[in-house]
Amino acid sequence: MAALIVWFSTLLTFPRIRTVHNSPAYAKLLVVPFGEHGIRWAVMYAEDTAAALAQLTLDEVVEKTPDLPALPAATLAVMRESQSATSTAHSVARYLSQDQSLTARVLRLANSAFYGMQRRIASPDEAVIILGMRAVRNLAMIASTYHWMDKPLRGYALEPHEFWEHSLSVAVASQVLAQSVSPGSSDLAFTCGLLHDLGKVALSAWLENRSVTLNSVAARLDLTTDQAERRVLGFDHQQVGGKLAEKWNLPKVIVEAISYHHCPSTVETESPAVDIVHVADYMASTTQVTTHGGEGIHIYLDKAALDRLMIGDDEMQGLSEEFAVQYENYEKLFIQPKAA
Ligand SMILES: [Fe+2]
Ligand SMILES: [Fe+2]
Repeated sequence: MAALIVWFSTLLTFPRIRTVHNSPAYAKLLVVPFGEHGIRWAVMYAEDTAAALAQLTLDEVVEKTPDLPALPAATLAVMRESQSATSTAHSVARYLSQDQSLTARVLRLANSAFYGMQRRIASPDEAVIILGMRAVRNLAMIASTYHWMDKPLRGYALEPHEFWEHSLSVAVASQVLAQSVSPGSSDLAFTCGLLHDLGKVALSAWLENRSVTLNSVAARLDLTTDQAERRVLGFDHQQVGGKLAEKWNLPKVIVEAISYHHCPSTVETESPAVDIVHVADYMASTTQVTTHGGEGIHIYLDKAALDRLMIGDDEMQGLSEEFAVQYENYEKLFIQPKAA
């Protein structure tokens, strides 16, 4: 009962923000809610976070994060080749074959219940011919990212599977939106959606043993997660993800979609991919078919992005329903059909 009263009293205390420290990384804020428990929380947060993050820079996160995820060279080659005007089924399959472990994972997905094939797909050539170049490219992306995206992200209080589910759901929502506004780019949109929160993986590694999460900071300060990151660190997961994508030599359109997915109207040159991922993130986070993926309790939708994509409210409703159906279908990707 006493704990309940304490918890309720903290709800009644409205946080004020004031600067109390000169450290460059977190000095911009220290929440001092009224009441003893709020102050204790704020002090604990300040000491704990300052010790670990005060000197952290964006470049350090990108260059020095231990166990940073990477995309296999074969996946990048498949992505580039599938976009090339001169590519053939065989040339895409040849790049995939360069990585045996990746090939095995792609074939496993290709033979899942999602595709419902009557006979087994046994080689990269068969996979590209039967499923198509773009489908194989998306399978290569899923096969390359699943193992590190499926881990817990403790800096964002995400349990195993939650970050993966969010990333996949934004990929599927991006594909659904792109099919509606720009059908030729739906597979590229899928990749942009899948990788959009990449920066969180790196940032979470630095926050692993901290006593608070960025989500709790965001909730306490009534901010979106990316706003909380900028307050605490001076930069956010969009910037970290964008730098990582640049480091991997991903195409500019993907780098921009990652770098501006929470602020699509600030990108230098208008980009449908940026707007699509922004709206997809909102759609996936609010349709309640999956978790919010660490985007916090406040999800911001820039209406200008919807206007640029020429999506009205009614159409948004229909696309959200279509997304929910397609996302549920994607779960079959991880179900292997029983052997005949
Ligand atoms: Fe995000
Ligand atoms: Fe997200």
